[in-house]
Amino acid sequence: MPEFTEWNALIEACQNCRACGLCETRTNVVVGVGPENAEVLFIGEGPGENEDLQGEPFVGRGGKLLDLALHAVGLDRRRNIYIGNSVKCRPPKNRDPLPEEQAACAHWLENQIALLNPKIIVCLGRVSACRIIKPDFKVTREHGQFFERDGRLLMGTLHPAAILRDPRKKSEWFADFVALRDKIQEVCDHTELADPAEFA
Ligand code: URA
Repeated sequence: MPEFTEWNALIEACQNCRACGLCETRTNVVVGVGPENAEVLFIGEGPGENEDLQGEPFVGRGGKLLDLALHAVGLDRRRNIYIGNSVKCRPPKNRDPLPEEQAACAHWLENQIALLNPKIIVCLGRVSACRIIKPDFKVTREHGQFFERDGRLLMGTLHPAAILRDPRKKSEWFADFVALRDKIQEVCDHTELADPAEFA
């Protein structure tokens, strides 16, 4: 049984969390965004500057690129997917979260997974894939593959920041989103894909 069985209680408690030192420097706790019955959950690493200021995941340049890839396959953060992060508060100067900060934060993501009960989890980047899929996950070799665990499908793909750094990887990244769309059509019950033309 998760600690919180209602989204409103989870969100309120998470926004008031002071379990690690990141609460001293954050502007906002970035809990997550998306419908609370989404069957597909995306997990990033942690908020950057823009996310900290706006209180929403992936709202900077990487987020815009992520939205493009999502929209191309009929997915959208306000309609049919949920996006969260492994760590909910921005580490100062975007340093990596410390092991104790990650440990203090882990139960929020676990509780979100318990409430959503997603059919598919997509890990954006090595940090979340190593945490959720397996500790030795290799993004370059294993991205786009589906792993079954506890009745869910887990997939790792590149982090949007990696595509901004090396745009040559964009086509293999998009291919993962196409594979995801096909898998959603195969295993999801109520996820309605939008017409990509709506976002043009
Ligand atoms: N990078 C992440 O991993 N998450 C965000 O929310 C923003 C950037």
